[in-house]
Amino acid sequence: MWGVIATWEMAAEGVHLASEKLKNGASAADALQVAIEDVENNPEFQSVGFGGLPNEAGIVEMDAAFMNGNTFAVGAVAGITDGKNPIAVARKLSSETFNSFLVGAGATAYAKNNNFKMQNMLTDDAAKKWQERVKEVAKNNLSPYDGHDTVGVVTLSGDAMTCGTSTSGLFMKKPGRVGDSPLAGSGFYVDSQVGGACATGLGEDLMKGVLSFAIVEKMRAGLTPQEACDTVVYDFSEKLAKAYGKSGAMSLIAMDHQGNWGVATNVEFTFCVATKNLAPTVYLANPGANGTTVIQAITTK
Ligand code: GLY
Repeated sequence: MWGVIATWEMAAEGVHLASEKLKNGASAADALQVAIEDVENNPEFQSVGFGGLPNEAGIVEMDAAFMNGNTFAVGAVAGITDGKNPIAVARKLSSETFNSFLVGAGATAYAKNNNFKMQNMLTDDAAKKWQERVKEVAKNNLSPYDGHDTVGVVTLSGDAMTCGTSTSGLFMKKPGRVGDSPLAGSGFYVDSQVGGACATGLGEDLMKGVLSFAIVEKMRAGLTPQEACDTVVYDFSEKLAKAYGKSGAMSLIAMDHQGNWGVATNVEFTFCVATKNLAPTVYLANPGANGTTVIQAITTK
């Protein structure tokens, strides 16, 4: 069996490319990297990689992670700058016994020293949006924060599963701010004998619930991916609403080791799936009644 599931419609082309690789016997890790790099390389996607919106100081700081579900190896970067493909750096770090999670200048230096492609990740368009936002915030006393559409991907190839994330995080975040995406258990988790899950949404809230790990554990206990996502996401979103008056946006995707998949979300959310039995498809998900998720296909490639 093979399969790939990814957050947001922006991953449609990446999922298509990954599915072609998986069909031809590629490893789960190679297919995952192809899917995420396609999103990182596209300057039109303003929450991931090149073209990502910058922090308060006008610098694109990115977070990414990679996990191997056979060995539980995790590699991650947080606040990396100028690295063209943070997911490639995270994947390489997952092979390190020590120093496998690097932040800030250390992460950027590691990428440079290991010959990863480096480039200025701030596009003219993103710089213009940042300048406008700085003025708006000063004038209208607005909350500056906006946008947290992480690309999260889970892949399955035979007996092997991987998962990964990549994001430029919150637009106008404080320099050094890190979200859930590079944090194992919160932004992602995978066990090849069970399944994997990834998160997108407001990192500050997602990390309170360690939701990706929680979903994998529910699947281990026998719930389907859809049941696991529904149980974990709606229970936790309700807890946050009780504690704070509202919950931040949170959307989780999951796939089990047989290629079954599920999602749950407390906002309108798009995602993409392809498996041996399903052509690449983009879906729209919305929270439904009584802790369920309403899912409809919107395109098939
Ligand atoms: N979920 C991505 C972030 O909050 O940075």
